[in-house]
Amino acid sequence: MAEEEVKNKQVIFRDYITGLPKESDMHMTTDKIISLKLPKGSNGVLLKNLYLSCDPYMQILMKTIEGPSVFTSYTPGSVIMGHGVAKVIDSGHPNIKKGDFVWGTIGWEEYSLITTPEALFKIDHTDVPLSYYTGILGTPGLTAYVGFHEVCTPKKGEYVFVSAASGAVGQLVGQFAKLMGCYVVGSAGTQEKVIMGNGVAKVIDSGHPNIKKGDFVWGTIGWEEYSLITTPEALFKIDHTDVPLSYYTGILGTPGLTAYVGFHEVCTPKKGEYVFVSAASGAVGQLVGQFAKLMGCYVVGSAGTQEKVDLLKKLGFDEAFNYKEEHDLDAALKRYFPQGIDIYFENVGGKMLDAVLLNMRNYGRIAICGMVSQYNLEEPEGVKNLMQLLYKRVRMEGFVVFDYHPHYSKFLASVLPYIREGKITYVEDIVEGLENGPSALVRLFRGRNVGKQLVVVAHE
Ligand SMILES: NC(=O)c1ccc[n+]([C@@H]2O[C@H](COP(=O)([O-])OP(=O)(O)OC[C@H]3O[C@@H](n4cnc5c(N)ncnc54)[C@H](OP(=O)(O)O)[C@@H]3O)[C@@H](O)[C@H]2O)c1
Repeated sequence: MAEEEVKNKQVIFRDYITGLPKESDMHMTTDKIISLKLPKGSNGVLLKNLYLSCDPYMQILMKTIEGPSVFTSYTPGSVIMGHGVAKVIDSGHPNIKKGDFVWGTIGWEEYSLITTPEALFKIDHTDVPLSYYTGILGTPGLTAYVGFHEVCTPKKGEYVFVSAASGAVGQLVGQFAKLMGCYVVGSAGTQEKVIMGNGVAKVIDSGHPNIKKGDFVWGTIGWEEYSLITTPEALFKIDHTDVPLSYYTGILGTPGLTAYVGFHEVCTPKKGEYVFVSAASGAVGQLVGQFAKLMGCYVVGSAGTQEKVDLLKKLGFDEAFNYKEEHDLDAALKRYFPQGIDIYFENVGGKMLDAVLLNMRNYGRIAICGMVSQYNLEEPEGVKNLMQLLYKRVRMEGFVVFDYHPHYSKFLASVLPYIREGKITYVEDIVEGLENGPSALVRLFRGRNVGKQLVVVAHE
């Protein structure tokens, strides 16, 4: 093999199909050698392929096409062709030069020699993800745009229906229609949607007056590499980047605000009060305990392992215990709170809540933040000791952090100095890679996380 030659990995079409395509209708080969220099005198281009688009029409090309058609079938034994994005590594074409990015019809292979480069589109805008040229800025995008605007000739206020509405074309037609002021309904074949959750992101394009390209934001985003957010007013712009950005998934995001408003607004704490926190080493619990200590309270936390118990003590909790090793939760609480509990920050529910009710002091407060022990039960456990609320005049109140979003700037003003001065320690449990997201999520419900569980999709 000459110096500038490499083995070209290719996906080869095996033979014409009937029915749905199967993986076995294609196979990989590295048999072909390709030169990374164009043949002398060629006016073609040599491409290093980057993104390959999967499109419904490719199924048609895998069948024998009878009669007149806009399509030509694939040839058995040859490389699959489709839309894609590529980088030019050599060019004999006057308008395309080495280093340019292009999109158009390329091979499902590492390198493609294109002898008709005039059929390729040169990419002039590289400030958006290059993969967009297989979709919104490529054939599906143009299809949606001209199909809706030129063929449908829509008017504001019209009623629009889109089938296959979650696909590459359909999702854009629906959004173009919304931008026109139409009423839009889409149909799709599954309820499948990308997982949504709290996250931190960098803005790569924006149509919102207060959020610009390059800004960082936190809020509800997709578990995906890139998210198109159509309601950006629900995102929080990140103004302080002198702390780790990941903190906006935790101490400076929803868990932090939850701990802050749940403790300060719902529990209405006073110096010297006796505070109990369950799931205390988690994202919310570790902060509630530290806020309570900063207020001058006595704080005990419960957690599910000895490692977490040790961590709580390092974080400044006065006491901590492993609830899994306590056969009698009532007795355990009496041991740590002989005088009773003024404030219970409830994260787990079930048996723990019942035991806490027996140990509350007069005029105590219970903030119901969550009940993680109940989330995956078919039948929620009953709570027997509710009469204690009456006897002890205890206020038990549920709260949802979203109602407290207007408190966010007050919260930041209070908590950022604590972080900068090292008065609060914040523990994160970091997993690298979107592909490890599902296992990270499952760890939470098994208590395997130590601190705030989060997933890194990309380091800035
Ligand atoms: N009200 C709101 O607006 C709001 C907002 C955010 C979060 N929340 C709630 O706040 C609570 C804490 O959330 P987080 O983000 O801080 O989670 P987290 O505590 O970081 O993680 C969940 C923890 O719960 C514990 N756990 C899991 N299954 C359990 C079970 N069956 N019994 C007892 N403990 C169990 C595990 O710790 P152990 O090893 O210690 O068992 C696990 O690490 C959750 O209930 C959540 O739903 C409420």
